[in-house]
This record gives sequence, C-alpha cells and structure tokens, in this order.
Amino acid sequence: MHREHPMAVLPAGYEAAGRATAVAHPNIALVKYWGKRDEGLILPVTSSLSMTLDVFPTTTSVRLVDGSGPDQVTLNGAPATGEALRRITAFLDLVRERCGRDLRAVVDSRNTVPTGAGLASSASGFAALAMAAAAAYGLDCDAAGLSRLARRGSGSASRSVFGGFAQWHAGTGTGPEGDESSYAEAVPAARLDVALVIAVVNAGPKAVSSREAMRRTVDTSPLYGPWAASSRDDLADMRAALVRGDLRAVGEIAERNALGMHATMLAARPAVRYLSPATVTVLDRVSELRERGVAAYVTMDAGPNVKVLCHRAQAEQVARAVREAAPGGTVLVAGPGPGARLLGEDG
Ligand code: PMV
Repeated sequence: MHREHPMAVLPAGYEAAGRATAVAHPNIALVKYWGKRDEGLILPVTSSLSMTLDVFPTTTSVRLVDGSGPDQVTLNGAPATGEALRRITAFLDLVRERCGRDLRAVVDSRNTVPTGAGLASSASGFAALAMAAAAAYGLDCDAAGLSRLARRGSGSASRSVFGGFAQWHAGTGTGPEGDESSYAEAVPAARLDVALVIAVVNAGPKAVSSREAMRRTVDTSPLYGPWAASSRDDLADMRAALVRGDLRAVGEIAERNALGMHATMLAARPAVRYLSPATVTVLDRVSELRERGVAAYVTMDAGPNVKVLCHRAQAEQVARAVREAAPGGTVLVAGPGPGARLLGEDG
C-alpha cells in the first residue's frame, strides 16, 4: 500500500540556524507540465500531477557567511559554473529578498540522478535547495509556501516538496496573483500499490533544455493548444482514477498525456525530438506486455528515457522485459517516495 508521507513544513517557530541540510527526491509527472504562461515567475499553462520517487535523492546544505563576495556553489563535488550557477544564485537572491537578509551562501549539493537526462534532477535539486535555504535564512513558510518557492527554481520542483502523489495547481492570472495561486499539494491515492520501472537508455545530457523546448512548443506548435485543453480533462480523470485506485485508468491517462506532449514538440518549428530508437523499442516491449495481460504503461519526459508504471507485484517481471529490450541501458525499479525534509546535525 502507498503510505501517506508527512507534509514538508519548517518546524513551528524555527529559528534561522544559519545552516541547514535538506534532502528531496525527484518526481515523475503522470499528467505533464509543459508550457509556461509566465516565464519569469514560472507559472504553467496547465496543472500537473506527479509521483515522487524513492530513488535518486538530492542532498543540499546551505551555510550563511558574512561578506559581499559571490555565493559559493558546489555540485557533486565540483564548483558550479555557467547556467547552473546563475540559476542557483538567482534563486538565493529571491530568498534573500524575501527575508530581507543579504548574507552570502555556501551551497553544497549532491545528487545521484544522471543530470540533464530527462529524469528531473532539477526537481529534487530545487526542492532540496528551497528547503535548506528557507531554513538557513529563517524564511517562515508552510508547505504550500515552500512549494511556491521551489517552483521559482524549476517548475517541477514545486511537486517534489511532497511525497507520494502531488498536484501542482496552475493557479490563475499573472504577477503576484499568479504567484500566490500556483503551488503543489499532496493528492491521496491510498489504494494504489504501484512501481515505476525506469529505463535509462541514455544518461547523457539532453541536446535541448526543457526550458527552451517548452518555449518553442508554446510559441510555434499548432498542436500545443489542443494538448493543453485535453490535459485539463486528463487531470480530472486522473484524480478520479487515483481515488478509485484504478491502475489501468491511471496508466492509460498517463500514457496518452505523455505521448500527446511529445506530439506537441514534434510539431514545433523546428521540431524537438527527445525519443530515440531505444525509446521506441521499449515502448514496443511495453505494448507486448500489455497484450499478454500485464498492466504496464509508459511515460517519458524531456529525454529518451522511459518510465513504466505497473503494479508493484509485477515490477520485477516488467523490469526483466524492459532490460531485454534495452540491453545497453540501466533499468531500475522505483516506488512512491517521501517529501522533502530537513536533516538533523547527525545527518
Ligand atoms: O521543471 P522543468 O523545467 O525541469 O520541466 C519539467 C518538464 C517535464 O519533466 C517534461 C514534465 C513534468 O511535468 O515534470
């Protein structure tokens, strides 16, 4: 059975400790976030719904230091540079602005997910950074506030604040109204006992960032509007299917939503194509499994890797079939995981 995970909130009356460490896990969307209505505030066109995983955690510590130099950021043991450093510094600026303190930060972040391979390292990364930075700077926020903050780092990070299943509400309007109304919250799915079989067919960085691919799709794809409209129906159907604990419906909705999202990108000008021949081989194998009566359904993000949703009891059987189909890749089984949390001094 899927267990409810405690909500991620900073303890009441939490004092700014000046240093904090948080851990967060990636999430995989079953109804996708694809397209922004406000680039600056990261407000999505549609609401989305995901499952947080119990694999590939990111652990991030933030320590405040005096002085006026730049923030010092280390990612997996190496100094951050370029776009990664710029995004993290901009995020810390936002936290500093909100709490009215301008201390610099020393950030150390380690993740175990292949960065940039469509496995959402930015989701666990910014959820962990949001929680650690909020605690270190003493920013007073509840779970929704933390989700809203994480959203500013990376949209999908808003959902990794929560364990199990989470819905990110698109919210309404732009500017402060949009910002206030766009956050994630936990979705109950107590009767669903699922696994996601993850087939990493290519762990290298992607050619087009999800940010750029989304922008291009919204701006140029004639299929974007119809997908966004159908995604609203998918979300309502998905919520009902989760409440019923109906894996077949959950899987069918997730698969059609993801394939539709990739169709919008293929129709962008120029096209964005993340799916590789190995991806398609895995998709064929999952169709065969289904013909043999195994409830297995695919979803793919901004990369060639495939995640297969199935009953937990059949996950090893599905993993074996996928391994055979993608012999050069890595296949592992994930379950629903916990929300972001702070670690104590002893880790
Ligand atoms: O949060 P970003 O910018 O990494 O975008 C993630 C988009 C998808 O992973 C493709 C879909 C989703 O909802 O997570």
